Parts: sequence; structure tokens; C-alpha cells
Amino acid sequence: MMNTEICQITDRSLAEAKSILLSGGLVAFPTETVYGLGADARSDSGVDKIFTTKGRPQDNPLIVHIHRDFDLNGLVYDEMPYAKKLREVFLPGPLTLVYRSKGKVSSKVSCGLDTLAVRVPSHVGAQAFLRYVDLPIAAPSANVSKHVSPVSAEHVFADLNGKIPLILDGGPSSGGIESTVCDVTGEYPVVLRQGLVSVEMIRSVVGKCGVYVPKEGEQVRSPGMKYKHYAPKCKTCLVTDAKQASLRFDEFKKEGLRAYVLCESKYAKYFPKDRLLDLGSTAEEMASRLYSLLREGELVADVIIAIEPTRSDGVMAGVLNRLNKACAEE
Ligand code: TXA
Ligand code: MG
Repeated sequence: MMNTEICQITDRSLAEAKSILLSGGLVAFPTETVYGLGADARSDSGVDKIFTTKGRPQDNPLIVHIHRDFDLNGLVYDEMPYAKKLREVFLPGPLTLVYRSKGKVSSKVSCGLDTLAVRVPSHVGAQAFLRYVDLPIAAPSANVSKHVSPVSAEHVFADLNGKIPLILDGGPSSGGIESTVCDVTGEYPVVLRQGLVSVEMIRSVVGKCGVYVPKEGEQVRSPGMKYKHYAPKCKTCLVTDAKQASLRFDEFKKEGLRAYVLCESKYAKYFPKDRLLDLGSTAEEMASRLYSLLREGELVADVIIAIEPTRSDGVMAGVLNRLNKACAEE
């Protein structure tokens, strides 16, 4: 067990972060989506450590994070004119682009794929960190594999205390769900994971945008998609409306189980206030609250009953995807 420090972002903690990274160690850092668990992307042993520390499957590739002035062309073949447009409109921000790789980072980052996912986060603390270290930083979300992603330094500490030396604290992540992952190697962009930059937003800039749907029996293009994810430690169940939720709530009560209801504000009136995990009303509110409510809920509930939101367009597509994965069967 090592001692895990939580530090505000200062010149001193950034200097410590850089020296940890340069010796193959891990540093957790804030972004506008969720907290990341970073290693020097050029270091085989650093990148290896990410997989072992999280218990992450060896075939799930990592995103490389860079500051806004880092030389992208040193890392990837940036061929598509539409990719430049997407960068101009959405970056820095919660959009990760998958390019053909130049192979300049550890091959473990992309788990042997010939592509590289690159992200330029907008969070001020993330930019300060990336600029200070001036390295390509490989980072997945800073949770134990399959658990709910962390949206505060305390969440990271709860999962990784004793396993990493340093957590840079940049306050709560405002976005709340992971970045949109978009493949830009083809004739038009294809979204591999939905997020805060919606498919509709991408279409409004470049016209055409596909959405990747994994097919049975086919090799998945974004290996992360096949795993159960984002799951709280308590039992969960997903229902389609408030009536179903009430029925389940009463059943669980009869079994002596403490049920909490995770739902949009419009359903709140049907349930006891002290058993509510209220997601709010807009898609952006729901995204920003989802993971902290799941983490809050797992500490007090025997079971979380989630009511599926009624809309599924725009940013809600990303929220719904995370909710489904959090509450899915194994
Ligand atoms: O918002 C985020 O993206 C956060 C913060 C920390 O930046 N990071 C994050 O990383 O969510 P992670 O490892 O939990 O998810 C990375 C996703 C996975 O679904 C993975 O399969 C996909 O990106 N991915 C990474 N490299 C890829 C590649 N070369 N081709 C296709 N998908 C890739
Ligand atoms: Mg993750």
C-alpha cells in the first residue's frame, strides 16, 4: 500500500506529478467529463500500470490526452478535412477523435490497434496539468474497472486509495459522463461512444455522421463497448415508468430491502423524498448528476430502481447508454 495524496493544482503538485509520470508512475487528474488515471503514454511500464491498477481488460484501448498546443501531427495521421472542422468547433472539449496512429506512443495504449484515440479536455485544471507535464498522457477513467466513473477527487480516492501516489483535485467534473468517441479515419465520422457532443451536433457541423452499432459476432471497433460498466456496488433494476417503479419499490419493501429511485424530476412526486436520487430535468443536468447519484446511492441503498428517461435524442442518448450499462445484467 502506498500513501495516496489529494492535492490542489499548484506548481508544487504539478512538479510532483511530472516526476511521478517520468518515473513510470500514475497520477489521477480532473477533466470536464470524469477524472482520468494518467500515465506517460510513451512508457510501456507506465501504461501497463494503468491496466493492472484498474483491473482493466487487456484489450480495451486507452485515450491519449494532450494540451491544446501539443503537436497532434507528431502522434497521428490527420487526413480528413472534416476532422479539422470538428476540432475547430468542439475542442478543447468532451470529444475524443480516433485517428490512424503514427506509432509514437507505447503500443499498449491502443492494445495493438493501428489507431489512436486523442482528446483535448477543456477543464482548466486538466489543461494546466497537461501543459505543465507537456507529455501525451494515456488515461482511462480513474475508477476500478466496471465501477461507476469518478466525478470528484473523493470518488477517485474511494476506488484507488493505496494504489496511486497522487490525485490532482480540480473540483467536481461538470460534464459528468465520458467524452464522445468518434472515429475520423473514414470518409465521414462515426461515433463509437455517445456523450456530451451529440451525433446531432456533429452532423450540424459536417453533415454526415454515423453511429456505430456493434453487430453480433463481429469484432467490435471500440472494445470498451462490450463490457459491463459504470455499475454501482448495490443491486440495480431498470424500469420503463413510474408505475413499474412503484410496484418494484413496494415489493422490495416487503422483502425488507431499502430501495432508492433514480429518476427525472418529473417523477419525483411519486416517491418518498428521502428515497429519491433526482437526476433533474435537462439532458445536461442528468449527465452531470448521474455518476455522483449512483455513487451516493450505492452507499445507502440495497437496490437502486432507475426509471428510463423518456427522450433518447441528443445528449440523452449518452445518458441512456450509461444508465443502461450501469443497470444491465452481467
Ligand atoms: O471523458 C473521457 O473520455 C474520460 C476522461 C478521463 O478523458 N476517459 C475515458 O476513458 O472515458 P475510458 O478508458 O474509460 O474509455 C475509453 C473509450 C473506450 O470505450 C475505448 O474502447 C475507446 O475509448 N477507445 C480508445 N482507443 C480507441 C481506439 N483506438 N479505437 C476505438 N476505440 C478506442
Ligand atoms: Mg471508463
